[in-house]
Amino acid sequence: MGHLSLLREPFHELARIRRGHRSGGPPLWDYRPTRDDPPDSNPGLSHSNPTAGEFRIGLQSFKNGIRDRTTFLGIGIGRRNRKDFKGILMSHNPKSLLVTGGAGFIGANFVHYWLERYPDHRIVVLDALTYAGNLENLDPVRKNPSFRFVHGDIRDFDLVVRLLREEEIDTIVHFAAESHVDRSIQGADAFIDTNVLGTHTLLKAAKAVWLDRGPSVRPHRFHHVSTDEVYGTLGPADSPFRETTAYAPNSPYAASKAASDHLVRAWHHTYGLDTTTSNCSNNYGPYHFPEKLIPLMIVNILEGKPLPVYGDGMQVRDWLHVEDHCRGIDRVIRRGAPGETYNIGGSNEQPNMTIVNRLCRLTDEAFEDTPGLKQRFPKAPPADGQLSAQLITHVTDRPGHDRRYAINAEKARNELGYRPEITFEAGLKKTLHWYLENETWWRHVKGKA
Ligand SMILES: NC(=O)c1ccc[n+]([C@@H]2O[C@H](COP(=O)([O-])OP(=O)(O)OC[C@H]3O[C@@H](n4cnc5c(N)ncnc54)[C@H](O)[C@@H]3O)[C@@H](O)[C@H]2O)c1
Repeated sequence: MGHLSLLREPFHELARIRRGHRSGGPPLWDYRPTRDDPPDSNPGLSHSNPTAGEFRIGLQSFKNGIRDRTTFLGIGIGRRNRKDFKGILMSHNPKSLLVTGGAGFIGANFVHYWLERYPDHRIVVLDALTYAGNLENLDPVRKNPSFRFVHGDIRDFDLVVRLLREEEIDTIVHFAAESHVDRSIQGADAFIDTNVLGTHTLLKAAKAVWLDRGPSVRPHRFHHVSTDEVYGTLGPADSPFRETTAYAPNSPYAASKAASDHLVRAWHHTYGLDTTTSNCSNNYGPYHFPEKLIPLMIVNILEGKPLPVYGDGMQVRDWLHVEDHCRGIDRVIRRGAPGETYNIGGSNEQPNMTIVNRLCRLTDEAFEDTPGLKQRFPKAPPADGQLSAQLITHVTDRPGHDRRYAINAEKARNELGYRPEITFEAGLKKTLHWYLENETWWRHVKGKA
């Protein structure tokens, strides 16, 4: 079978071909990149030296019935040669994105990142505005004609289907979730409802619109944003989590995210939905709700309140600036292979205590260097020449608290060319200054919670 005959194959058929379930006809894994391939579809892969054992499936992409470009839907690599392959597996070119949970911390940062980088793309945010969602997070883009906000729930199947059709969405970036571990310990219902049932509803809607409408399937992508917490906890000497690490979620939050990851996987393998998943480590940066470690510590110092540290404070997390996470998601959406998962992390393991101490030091320095802070935040210890660290208070540890998370991000680095760009020291400083400059924002979101 030549490549041309594939143009008529429905997407799920292509997915089956990719898995080798199709009988008859010669194998398809004889494709080699040509000089006509989009230049960024294979950076790092030398055209003159293609890797043996790779195959790709080409499919024409159609917009309003007109062929506008060729998109390569899939590429598989012979197991034997996989480790040798340094190229990019896939090229997906989004034009119209549905961002769920776009009024939350990472979602809002992603919207800003994306519109800055791709100003001609359409972005529709669907967000239920729970305690964690805040329209002010999107203020800088609210008047942008490429942007639309829809107040609604990802569990509303009819609404999601309507939006996918009306906005000709080709890419879903799924952030919406209940995301705070402590809240999941107090009550898991909302976590199951949104993270599991909500993801299920989105997948059903995506399938209904993208796959069930006839033989010609438009290029599409369902990107699921997940967490490293699905892998459980590591001992001090254990190797960091890889994409192949067995799932072992320990909190209700992590279990609900693990369940959603499995649903996404199943929708790809069963129906051929073009999905990707990223499992990321702890994020920090602007618009972070002040119940999470870094913003909580900053805000409490400024208000002169205790800095609660769980147990001995030696729980280790791999911290990544949210902008670097957005950069990673961008790579996965545009270059990740269908059905694949990618770990995204900062290779930046830090015990909580180290972070709290650093924030105390950075805040003390900021008060020394910035005139006016003492008057604006008179309750902060450095306003009175004291050290912020005096507010540190050890509290009873969280039940089932995972001791260590660490990400091995080699796959994203090797296959997608992904590397974080913001150092931890610079990122923390930037974040502290954002909170110092956006007091109205954090006072408002704290008041709402
Ligand atoms: N924060 C991190 O460090 C981190 C790390 C790795 C992965 N993640 C994942 O990234 C995603 C975003 O995390 P975050 O920290 O920005 O979360 P967040 O709690 O700040 O934001 C979640 C957003 O989802 C919205 N939402 C909740 N339920 C909804 C529903 N039923 N329908 C529509 N919208 C709904 C909320 O209103 C909010 O705007 C989550 O899926 C989370 O699991 C977070």
